[in-house]
This record gives sequence, C-alpha cells and structure tokens, in this order.
Amino acid sequence: MEAPALYLGLFVLIFLLIFTWRMHRRRLSLPPGPIPLPFVGNLFQGSFLIYESYLKLCKQYGPVFTVWLGNTPVVVLCGYSVVKDALINYSHRFSDRGPLPITARLAKGYGIIGTNGEHWRHTRRFAITTLRNFGMGKRSMEQRVQEEAEHLIKAIEATRSVLADPDCWKTPYDFNPENFLDQNGLFCTHDAWMPFSAGKRICPGEGLARMEVFLFLTALLQKFTIKPANPSDTYDLWTLRRAFRKKGLSYCLSAYPRT
Ligand code: HEM
Repeated sequence: MEAPALYLGLFVLIFLLIFTWRMHRRRLSLPPGPIPLPFVGNLFQGSFLIYESYLKLCKQYGPVFTVWLGNTPVVVLCGYSVVKDALINYSHRFSDRGPLPITARLAKGYGIIGTNGEHWRHTRRFAITTLRNFGMGKRSMEQRVQEEAEHLIKAIEATRSVLADPDCWKTPYDFNPENFLDQNGLFCTHDAWMPFSAGKRICPGEGLARMEVFLFLTALLQKFTIKPANPSDTYDLWTLRRAFRKKGLSYCLSAYPRT
C-alpha cells in the first residue's frame, strides 16, 4: 500500500476510535439502549416503522431507553405510565419543548409551540384568555359550531360526492369502540387516551376541538352512513399510514344518506 493511503487509513481509524469512545462515554450517563454506530447512530438498525422498533426496544431495555438519531441521543418514554409520570408528576422538568427546526423557521422565536419559559407562559395565558373570550367552553360556541356542521351537511348533500401501548388497549392497532365500553356496553373514558397530551403543555384548544369533533361527527352520523371509499380499505393504523404517505392527509370516505 502507498504511504499516503496508509496515513489516510490510519487517520480515519484514529478519528473513528476517538468518536466511538466519546459516544461510549456519553452513553454511560444515559438510559440503556442499542449500541449506536458512529455518525448514523441507530438510524438504520430498526424497522422502517419507528413505533414498531420502539415497542421492541421497550421490551428489551424497559420503558425508558435511548436511541441515537445520528449523533444526537434521544431518550424515549414508552407507554402510558412513564409518559404520565413525566408529563404530570414531573411536569416542572418535562414541560419545555426541544428545538424543532420547522417551528424555529416558521415562528422565529415567537408563539407558543416552539417557545419555553416566561415568553411561553405569557403567550399561552394570552391564547387561553382569547379562546375563552371567543367562546371556548361556552354554550354560544356550541351553536356556532352546529351552524358550521349544518353547512357541511348541506355541501355533502348537494354534491352527493365521495368524499399504539399494547398494555392499555384491547386491540392497539385496530379501530375498536370496545376500548371505550365497559362490561355493560356503556361509555367509559380511558386514562391512556390522551390525544391532547397532558400536563403543562396540554393542548390549549382542547375545549374547542372536542366540541367541534363531537358536534361535527354527531351531525354527520345522524345524516349519513360513512364507509371507506375503497371497500378493501379498513380503519386500521396501516391503512391510514399508507393513505397519509401516498396522498398527504387525504383519506377517501363515502357518505351514504340515511333513509
Ligand atoms: C382534534 C384536534 C386537536 C388535537 C388532537 C390537538 C392535539 C394537541 C397536542 C397533542 C398538542 C401537544 C401537547 C404537548 O406538547 O404535550 C397540542 C398543542 C397545542 N395545540 Fe392542539 N390539538 C387540537 C386542536 C387544537 C386547536 C383547535 C387549537 C387552537 C384553537 C390548538 C392549539 C394548540 C396549541 C397552541 C398548542 C401548543 C401548546 C403549548 O405548547 O403550550 N389545538 N395540541
């Protein structure tokens, strides 16, 4: 081998050794997890569906583990009990949001979503007061949402157009109303059902969103039977994921007028 190639090889080897040693030292102070490779970390080690890999890692390393996304270690909390612990019992430690390039670019340090500390507290208080003044949580809002739902129903009628913790759920990957029914078939809420998150960062629009979703859905379901446009589609996570990846947020449903 030529001398320059030898020196280059030696240089790369020493560089890799120093890099790996530094990564190893950082790992000692972090929760356990799979061994990362230099530069890529654990990026190419798991399954393509990241939450599938997380469930496997959770079984292997416990509910708090570390994965390396490139050179950055990320501590993952997996499952209801640790997530609740972090967001509610240790909310003073876990209510800051890490830097997200997209919010940093869009919000430029303003707003609620990408900020922390005093600025976040003030903006959040202002947002909640504004939403309340706008009617969130009041009956007047209910009427306005119902009017909107009526407009939607008229539009559909006019066009006749087509439009995951396994310990907590009976069937975590399938849509199953039984997850929300007790032994007598009556509605019951579920602690692990937290679509608006929990703790200090809980969605401030929850009241409005809940009312919108409830009123829109009930208004639609009273008038129409709704089915997937493609009969072979099912309401499971995989179908929704596929639809999401191929066509963005669209998912085709058919609305059949009830007789
Ligand atoms: C079905 C509808 C909605 C869902 C499922 C939803 C869900 C969520 C979730 C999961 C978060 C993150 C909480 C966290 O980081 O722990 C969030 C944050 C947020 N949501 Fe919503 N949301 C909905 C509708 C709305 C609406 C209607 C508004 C405004 C009127 C809104 C405003 C916000 C804001 C400003 C934040 C950031 C809060 C903060 O960082 O302090 N959301 N939402």
